[in-house]
Amino acid sequence: MMYCDHYHTPVLSQEVCEVLCSKNKKGVVLDATLGGGGHFNMIARQLESGAKLIGLDRDPDAVAGNREHPVDSRATIIIEQGRFSQIKEILGKHAIKKVDGVIADLGVSSFQIDNVDRGFSFMRECGLDMRMNQHEGETASKLIDRLSVGELSDILETCGEVRNAPRMAAALKNAPMPLRTSGDLRECLNREYGRQLPYKVLAKVFMAIRISLNDEINELRRFLESIVPLLAAGGRIAVISYHSIEDRIVKSFFRSQERHCICPEAALFCSCGRPGQLKRITKSPIFASVQEIEQNPRARSARLRAAEKESGGA
Ligand SMILES: C[S@@+](CC[C@H](N)C(=O)[O-])C[C@H]1O[C@@H](n2cnc3c(N)ncnc32)[C@H](O)[C@@H]1O
Repeated sequence: MMYCDHYHTPVLSQEVCEVLCSKNKKGVVLDATLGGGGHFNMIARQLESGAKLIGLDRDPDAVAGNREHPVDSRATIIIEQGRFSQIKEILGKHAIKKVDGVIADLGVSSFQIDNVDRGFSFMRECGLDMRMNQHEGETASKLIDRLSVGELSDILETCGEVRNAPRMAAALKNAPMPLRTSGDLRECLNREYGRQLPYKVLAKVFMAIRISLNDEINELRRFLESIVPLLAAGGRIAVISYHSIEDRIVKSFFRSQERHCICPEAALFCSCGRPGQLKRITKSPIFASVQEIEQNPRARSARLRAAEKESGGA
């Protein structure tokens, strides 16, 4: 399977373009989650001469696939491999100090899910890998081997909001054989409960393991923290999340950046003089339309939130 064969349908594409390209078509735009290049190519077509578009992904396969694919654009195109937590250094390498727009379409791409070698799918038989970068770190199978029941239970609860996390964790750790494939994991849990567990439950278990393995929550926090000082005044940030854990983080981060004064509540006078950093463009999240979900069922759980850098922000 090849990346970028117009394979990935970008989620909420019109809405993302509206946020990022309606104001400034000559600025610097960062797509921090290149994936199959869906949003990237769409933004590339909108930008005008003089603009710069940087595509970033931690997955070397996504980077290689996009580099092979010609981009239809008048903008200067840059594609780099790296994580959210490395954004500042990566932009610095290209002497970019500020960006006018940034999109992060969180989670895994269709390519990653559908490619059985990557081990993200709970519906198909595949090795339990789940690494976004297969050249780095341990596989999901090794992670489960290494963790204690308590640690695994915490992950299922905090990263997947899985019910009965302690029972599930104990079942996974007490499996008669090491869990090497998605089928092993499914069977182990089905055996524990004496029935086929619904897909929804299995999806949460897989998601929790994937999020923990790839340190996705910390990556998202670092991304949000690091991007605010890199946004030019009036620059915009758009984040698409696919589950409530990520969405809550984005929502509360945007809110916290809108708060102007950070003096202690008991203070009689404001001494911080802190201007608000961001102004929310979306007070509530934007969801995909019924038509979009019909065409692309993965858009079902997508939620877009966007904000703009205040002109007085640092
Ligand atoms: C939902 S896909 C993006 C799809 C893309 N917007 C498109 O239209 O084709 C998410 C991508 O983000 C990448 N990713 C996830 N976390 C990342 C991180 N912390 N740093 C860089 N890339 C990350 C994944 O490897 C994956 O390719």
